[in-house]
Amino acid sequence: MTDTIVRAVGMARGDAPGVESAPETRRRGAPIRPDGIPVRVPVSVMERNRLIGGLKDQRILDAYSLLRTRVLHRVNQNRISTLGVTSPSPRDGKSLTATNLAISIAAGENQPVLLVDADVRRPSIAHLFGLHINAGLGDYLVDDADLDEMILQPPINGLYVIPGRAKSRLRPESLSSEKVARLIKRLKQRLPGALIIVDMPPALIGGDVVAFAPNLDATLLVVANRRTHEADMEKVMPLMEGVNVMGTVLNFADQAVSKNDYYGGR
Ligand SMILES: Nc1ncnc2c1ncn2[C@@H]1O[C@H](COP(=O)(O)OP(=O)(O)OP(=O)(O)O)[C@@H](O)[C@H]1O
Ligand SMILES: [Mg+2]
Repeated sequence: MTDTIVRAVGMARGDAPGVESAPETRRRGAPIRPDGIPVRVPVSVMERNRLIGGLKDQRILDAYSLLRTRVLHRVNQNRISTLGVTSPSPRDGKSLTATNLAISIAAGENQPVLLVDADVRRPSIAHLFGLHINAGLGDYLVDDADLDEMILQPPINGLYVIPGRAKSRLRPESLSSEKVARLIKRLKQRLPGALIIVDMPPALIGGDVVAFAPNLDATLLVVANRRTHEADMEKVMPLMEGVNVMGTVLNFADQAVSKNDYYGGR
């Protein structure tokens, strides 16, 4: 079994909207150049979709900061440049965790981050940022569409996003390991120095995670508090063979737990 990176990232469904806007920071390392297509993301969208920038509950922001710190520690220690995020089942909180981790690192650490929606059958990152898109990873995988057309730059310095886009013509071979390996190589060339965070489908559904995860330096496993059953974890672990699982994140933590327990991860 893997380490728990953060035991609790939880928030109530009815959180009051915050007013904090995404911090303006500069990227570390490479000179600033127009790497992506600038897009607008209203704070109201960030509030509605629980993105950092729209959150005001300090406990939740602290939980994400802790996640960022622990992930970055391992990223730096192990020279990780590609990090997947998956979970056993649908709706465990993979996309929100991946997105808020990406925002937190880009904004808080001056570290460029590329967030890639690799859940190409059920993409959600464009929706999370309130974006209407013309191209996404599905187009690249099915039609070899130009990556330059799909790298978006939300108004958070250092954050780049490649949305997914469902394509009916997506075949298992579209997500072959070799194709994914080529994609990762191209992304690294396109944004040198960026941490690439890949939002993946549920590990227990379809074979996409099996194609993706071995091509990544490490993978975070999101576990949904009270929803992920032990039996699911037992089914997931063999699928993670050959995958460098960096740790687990307990999502949907109970608001009722005491503050000490809340941050009680290792
Ligand atoms: N910690 C949390 N607290 C409150 N709501 C959350 C939390 N994490 C996720 N959610 C909400 O739960 C829903 C599912 O989250 P998300 O889309 O991130 O899950 P997912 O695992 O990516 O789902 P899918 O398998 O469909 O891709 C979303 O409405 C999201 O806002
Ligand atoms: Mg998702």
